[in-house]
Amino acid sequence: MQDSVVLVTGASGGIGFVCAEVLAARGAQVILVGRDQQKCADAAAAIKNSTDNRKISFEVADLSLLQEVRALASRILHKHGHIDVLLNNAGGFYRQRQITTEGLEYTFALNHMAYFVLTSLLLPALGQAKQGRIINVASGAHRRGRMNFEDLQGKLAYAGWPAYCQSKLMNVMFTYALARQLEGTAITANSLHPGFVRSAFGHNNPGFAGLVVRLSQILLAISPEAGAKTPLHLACAPELADSSGKYYEKSQAVISSPESLDTAAQDRLWQISAEIAASIP
Ligand SMILES: NC(=O)c1ccc[n+]([C@@H]2O[C@H](COP(=O)([O-])OP(=O)(O)OC[C@H]3O[C@@H](n4cnc5c(N)ncnc54)[C@H](OP(=O)(O)O)[C@@H]3O)[C@@H](O)[C@H]2O)c1
Repeated sequence: MQDSVVLVTGASGGIGFVCAEVLAARGAQVILVGRDQQKCADAAAAIKNSTDNRKISFEVADLSLLQEVRALASRILHKHGHIDVLLNNAGGFYRQRQITTEGLEYTFALNHMAYFVLTSLLLPALGQAKQGRIINVASGAHRRGRMNFEDLQGKLAYAGWPAYCQSKLMNVMFTYALARQLEGTAITANSLHPGFVRSAFGHNNPGFAGLVVRLSQILLAISPEAGAKTPLHLACAPELADSSGKYYEKSQAVISSPESLDTAAQDRLWQISAEIAASIP
């Protein structure tokens, strides 16, 4: 990874932080993205300290807002001629329905639209790399996801876990559609499940839901270091230079849910996402 330019979203904690740190240790120029200035500064300082790599920078953006995603992309394109690895990782589980100031449902905005818009805008820089890699952190929870095209943002009925599972299904479907569009280029696109990881995932939820997540993490989850293994494999393994349009678990390409493989649904999701992005200036 020596001198590769890597951008990791959600790098202020959890799986994203470990990925950023390991990539820095391997010599990459790492750009951390997070929403909190102080957390990002602390994460960047910790990585510089532990790796002795000075090529660590950070960008602050609330990725639930398309305006901030676009401003982030424009700063990145201005500062970096090429990007070797884009790791779309920032995401979360929100039990209560929330609406962003741009009018989108929060889970949909952060977990799906941010991946969609940031990736689209950074494609020119990924195309300038010798072999650009787009890695979308999805989840095994995508298998429980159902695409509700009539009510994608839960206006009629919202429940946090189904909304999360649907958003992770979108990650897998978006990756397949993207990989098809990138055929014939040197850019690859893959998605993955990191495992059930002991991170801050779900801790934002008050009451019973937050408690259940914390307890299950104590009892069942793997460490963030273990959770980072599959995304790191996708970012670094030389033998994956031609691997695209795949879904990975435990560093192996496996078959994702039957619903995720529906190419017409993938294209429909793409079309709707592009329309929503265009409707928010
Ligand atoms: N943990 C699991 O068991 C598990 C399982 C399957 C898939 N995943 C997926 O793995 C990814 C990473 O999750 P994690 O477990 O590492 O969770 P985490 O510890 O909560 O980390 C999430 C990261 O995303 C950042 N983030 C959250 N909202 C953001 C926003 N609006 N704008 C910018 N950054 C934002 C967080 O920043 P702050 O530090 O400011 O909160 C943090 O850096 C997610 O996509 C999740 O769906 C996790």
